[in-house]
Amino acid sequence: MVKAIIAPSILAGDFSKLGAEAKRVFDAEADWIHLDVMDGHFVPNITMGPPIIASLRKSVPRDSNAPGKFFFDCHMMVSRPEQWVEPIAKAGGDQYTFHYEATDDPLKLIKLIRDNGMRAACAIKPGTPVEVLYPLAQYLDMALVMTVEPGFGGQKFMADMMPKVDALRRKYPQLDIQVDGGLGPSTILAAANAGANVIVAGTSVFKAANAEEMIQLLRSHVTS
Ligand code: DX5
Ligand code: ZN
Repeated sequence: MVKAIIAPSILAGDFSKLGAEAKRVFDAEADWIHLDVMDGHFVPNITMGPPIIASLRKSVPRDSNAPGKFFFDCHMMVSRPEQWVEPIAKAGGDQYTFHYEATDDPLKLIKLIRDNGMRAACAIKPGTPVEVLYPLAQYLDMALVMTVEPGFGGQKFMADMMPKVDALRRKYPQLDIQVDGGLGPSTILAAANAGANVIVAGTSVFKAANAEEMIQLLRSHVTS
């Protein structure tokens, strides 16, 4: 059985106080924090990069008594993802998710990510068929099926991506499968039923009146 992981996306947080925002959701029992790195080239938006992630890591240091706590899940919406592996590792990233569409040699990139001490994950945009992940799956820690066009938070969940999640889950019972975009109380069931176990939730968690209750609600659907 794969574990339910709730990963709030800080893109929906207050960028003037990222450290406090990360702490707020970790206090609310978030498993990971999802960091959306955008370069204005692979996607039509610019967000954050290694210097900001390094600052964030200083305000949310790793806990040597609890490995895996305060996990930084870095979603790299960038062209030439190879060039950012080492800087992101040095900044404190725990997982590096590259986009399949952005690289010519995914296997080489996976090895580079692992050699830099991070978990390796591969994302596909809505227009990319799930089959491209099959030759990579055995080398991946996680696959990310995008449920919106990458670039912006607060978009509508694309339920028609669920057959991709379902196909992956049937083939790879142990693989962490992440969904990202438009996840909240009204869409979590579709994602969980298809077999997703890693849930990115930006708007729904950061804008919730009670982040802890929202995280619990999302998790309850994934584990049930
Ligand atoms: C979109 C990002 C998402 C986004 C999700 O490109 O990859 O992580 O922050 O935000 P919500 O949950 O608001 O759709
Ligand atoms: Zn993301």
